[in-house]
Amino acid sequence: MNEHIGAVLSLEDVYMRRGDTVILDRISWQVLPGEQWAVVGPNGSGKTTMLKVAAGVMWPSAGKVEALGHRYGQVDLRTLRTRIGWVSSALEELVPARQQALEVVLSGLFASFGIYDEATNVQRERACGLLESLGCGRIADRPYGVLSQGEKQRVLIARALMTRADILIMDEPTAGLDITARELLLESVERLLTRENPPAVIFVTHHIEEIVPAITHAMVLCGGHVLAAGIKADILSGDALARAFSVPMEVDFRHGRFWPRIRGAMFE
Ligand SMILES: Nc1ncnc2c1ncn2[C@@H]1O[C@H](COP(=O)(O)OP(=O)(O)O)[C@@H](O)[C@H]1O
Ligand SMILES: [Mg+2]
Repeated sequence: MNEHIGAVLSLEDVYMRRGDTVILDRISWQVLPGEQWAVVGPNGSGKTTMLKVAAGVMWPSAGKVEALGHRYGQVDLRTLRTRIGWVSSALEELVPARQQALEVVLSGLFASFGIYDEATNVQRERACGLLESLGCGRIADRPYGVLSQGEKQRVLIARALMTRADILIMDEPTAGLDITARELLLESVERLLTRENPPAVIFVTHHIEEIVPAITHAMVLCGGHVLAAGIKADILSGDALARAFSVPMEVDFRHGRFWPRIRGAMFE
């Protein structure tokens, strides 16, 4: 597990511009050990960019980034990146459709989508176990291309867990899922978070009802700014969400989750 003491992830005054556009505007954020975060914000608010910076795949124009006790710029990023998993529906396009689900999971070990045949038997067993734990044991030998959207996402989660990542970034993993597939995926996330020594998960969504009970903290991002960040219940019951999405909104808390309700008649 984490041998470092202090923040799992730390962004200090991170600033990013492309041409005339400021994409990230002096973001400071710390993920401490034991914290599990949701990141919420409208389309284009900078969520993916912020997390790419956090994962060391994009470089900010200014600011300081540290992950797992290592400052970016002073560490071999290739090694560090194997400790940071990434799951998103955008990744799906990179997976060869003919590759079997189990092979996709194994390819996580080699940080590539093509290579899996160097895997040992122990690694294969681990991959099977991960698929099993995500409710995908039955589909291990099916080609990735024929899987449902929800199964594809859960295979990608298993793939990200193959390297025993300390940080797992899930960037809108529920995009395109129907209600049942979404609930199955959320159940897998909740189970992952409540197991012993879970990775630090950062779960990105537009939909606050997808924030599972085991998530402890939330950030609301809007226009590259952090509007609010802190303990989940405080952030989701405050006015930051309504400001970010520009709608009058009330939030109900039921069955461990938060449900938004648009107040008044939007369409009159
Ligand atoms: N390489 C880039 N060059 C110019 N603009 C970019 C680039 N990457 C992202 N953006 C812009 O930055 C903003 C934030 O994008 P993104 O991080 O993808 O937001 P989100 O994930 O919240 O939808 C968007 O307006 C997007 O168009
Ligand atoms: Mg995004």
